[in-house]
Amino acid sequence: MNHRGPEFAEILRRVTDGLNWVFGTSSDILSFTTSGTGGLEAAVVNTLSPGDKVLSVSIGVFGDRFGDIAETYGADVSRYKVEFGEIAEPAEIARRLDDDASIKAVLVTHNETSTGVTNPLERVAAVVRERDRLILVDAISSLSSVPVPVERWDMDVVASGSQKGWMVPPGLAFLYMGPRAWDAYASATMPRFYFDAKRAADSLGKGQNPWTPAMSMFYGMDKALELMRAEGLEGIYTRHEAIARYTRERVKSWGLSLVAKDEQYASNTVTAVWWPEGADGKAISNEARTEHGVVLGGGQQSLAGRIFRVGHLGWVSEQDIEQALDVLEGLLRDAKAIA
Ligand SMILES: Cc1ncc(COP(=O)(O)O)c(C=O)c1O
Repeated sequence: MNHRGPEFAEILRRVTDGLNWVFGTSSDILSFTTSGTGGLEAAVVNTLSPGDKVLSVSIGVFGDRFGDIAETYGADVSRYKVEFGEIAEPAEIARRLDDDASIKAVLVTHNETSTGVTNPLERVAAVVRERDRLILVDAISSLSSVPVPVERWDMDVVASGSQKGWMVPPGLAFLYMGPRAWDAYASATMPRFYFDAKRAADSLGKGQNPWTPAMSMFYGMDKALELMRAEGLEGIYTRHEAIARYTRERVKSWGLSLVAKDEQYASNTVTAVWWPEGADGKAISNEARTEHGVVLGGGQQSLAGRIFRVGHLGWVSEQDIEQALDVLEGLLRDAKAIA
């Protein structure tokens, strides 16, 4: 298929309409051939200039990364970090913005995949909006699985990635740029070429991507969005909520603790759990994978070896998770790590 021909233009239009529906936007979502990190980089380089003051809100590994990207491109980044398992407090963000009127933008992760914690994004967006700064959001592991009404929460830039709740392989990042983000674009001087949002928007107007797109990913997205429309957004969100609750209740019933310190902020897309005292998490994970075909996520950076993570987003049913947790429970019992 010619990626500059009418057939692809039709697919791109349908996929973009589907993205607009899920993001809750009236302007077109842009697609880039890249992983989620590329989406975060696009968010930064299209709105900021070297020397701009930025507040990086981080509740884990991916929040740190967002700040690192801005720093790499020359932003003056101050960091609000919390302990693993905690949320970012909107009042603390408000305080920091009030203390420094020169902060231009706030970078925030909606769902922190490394700790299984979901930030109270609606409230965070409100305090940023009230202070008239830009809010750039990493919604890579939340959008499409939990509600993220982008325009209703009045956010400026929001990025997501194909391999999460969108149910297709890695390879596409999706980017919302709101009106204030486009205003910022006009004066932003960070270098950008491949991830230039205006080039992407102009090409989209012609039914194209500026560059050769990962076409097979668009075929996948076309199908995924068809499934999503059949289930409906409410259905998708309710399913994720129910599976997440089931996962949490099950691991708690074994006496294990969630990494999320306050369960009301535990993620509906990934559950992170401390390995119990005395359990050899690495050995148990290996056995689950090699003997039972169950792959557990591990911990990243200082959480390596201390936690496991169960992903329950996208193409997943409660039965899938039940089977995986049956295996894990058996292995923990065999290892006498739980009673
Ligand atoms: C919240 C979050 N941000 C950023 C990323 C990075 O995305 P990618 O690995 O697709 O570049 C991920 C991936 O796991 C993520 O979960």
